[in-house]
Amino acid sequence: MNAFSFLWLVLPFFSVQCQKMVKVQSYRHLVSYMGRGADVRYFFNASTCVTSAKTSQSSDEIPVIGGELKLFIGSKDPDDGHLFFSQVRYVDNNPNNLTAEIQTIYVINDTAMVFWETTGFFVNNTGNPDGVYCNWTRGEGSIWVKQHPQRKQMTSFNEIRSALISGEKIRWVANLIGCNCPSDSGPDECTNSFVGDTITDFKISDNGSIRFTSSSTSLVPLSWVYARMIVFGHIYQNNTVNFMISLLDPTTWDDGDDEIFLCPIALSSAPKGVGFFLMDP
Ligand SMILES: *[C@@H]1O[C@H](CO)[C@@H](O)[C@H](O)[C@H]1NC(C)=O
Ligand SMILES: *[C@@H]1O[C@H](CO)[C@@H](O)[C@H](O)[C@H]1NC(C)=O
Ligand SMILES: *[C@@H]1O[C@H](CO)[C@@H](O)[C@H](O)[C@H]1NC(C)=O
Ligand SMILES: *[C@@H]1O[C@H](CO)[C@@H](O)[C@H](O)[C@H]1NC(C)=O
Ligand SMILES: *[C@@H]1O[C@H](CO)[C@@H](O)[C@H](O)[C@H]1NC(C)=O
Ligand SMILES: *[C@@H]1O[C@H](CO)[C@@H](O)[C@H](O)[C@H]1NC(C)=O
Ligand SMILES: *[C@@H]1O[C@H](CO)[C@@H](O)[C@H](O)[C@H]1NC(C)=O
Repeated sequence: MNAFSFLWLVLPFFSVQCQKMVKVQSYRHLVSYMGRGADVRYFFNASTCVTSAKTSQSSDEIPVIGGELKLFIGSKDPDDGHLFFSQVRYVDNNPNNLTAEIQTIYVINDTAMVFWETTGFFVNNTGNPDGVYCNWTRGEGSIWVKQHPQRKQMTSFNEIRSALISGEKIRWVANLIGCNCPSDSGPDECTNSFVGDTITDFKISDNGSIRFTSSSTSLVPLSWVYARMIVFGHIYQNNTVNFMISLLDPTTWDDGDDEIFLCPIALSSAPKGVGFFLMDP
């Protein structure tokens, strides 16, 4: 085969794979994209934003951060809508004093609050976090949705299982409005929240059900403490998903609050239950 005929073979492949990055212009659109399991990317240069009056400026570097949205959690309540996600990174500036740096981003309407601190490896060295307010719809930061034209929603246990055992990554989003929130978690929690991430690894139990977890450490504004959040997911053959969300003390890993949600696998893009999406089938 010469180079020319090779090009003819690969060109159609590239045109099919063309994926656009679409800038998100409003909070309403962002929540709607996220509720449908979109592949969301972001970039914030904190020095272009307004310094928060509540925080003291430490010597930490002003963060210029970006990436792919992983674990997020939020409320969809129109009057109290907010969502947050974090980045956690280990720092090798001083090998004798391992530290972690955490950036937590809270988005409420036009405002993305970016908080950051270098916490110490055990997340117990909590001094004064720094923070800025970015009007991300005005260009103080960017949020995009990467479009996947071939994106496919999976609506059954069997579809999810075959995608996973074929080596695929799966994006999921639980719109708790379609779920059951037993015991102490109030109805509000069940109807107005959403949480999502990507399944990058998993385990299949003896009885066939699929287990996965997601976790992140975030700064809780106002109380200025950290919390470790672990999401335990369990997908059953009867097309239901059980989630337990645990909030742990970041230093001792003591278990604080657990919330349990029992959700159906969503059957359409109608945001009820847990949507599972294969981005590039
Ligand atoms: C971040 O913003 C500052 C101030 O506007 C600018 O000097 C710097 O080049 C920006 N950094 C990046 C990576 O965009
Ligand atoms: C966000 O915007 C909505 C609609 O414009 C408004 O009702 C709500 O109070 C705002 N939320 C906050 C926390 O400012
Ligand atoms: C370790 O690093 C943190 C963050 O830079 C600093 O606040 C702390 O004092 C350091 N601890 C020691 C023992 O050097
Ligand atoms: C954090 O925990 C580590 C391990 O228990 C301990 O060595 C260190 O002194 C603690 N740092 C602070 C600031 O409490
Ligand atoms: C953010 O910027 C937009 C566009 O310039 C403006 O309409 C909006 O009022 C700003 N929001 C805040 C909270 O300043
Ligand atoms: C299957 O096994 C898991 C883990 O061992 C367990 O939590 C679950 O209740 C079992 N039953 C079903 C029907 O999946
Ligand atoms: C599906 O299976 C799980 C695990 O056995 C069980 O807890 C749940 O009640 C079942 N849901 C339905 C709707 O049958």
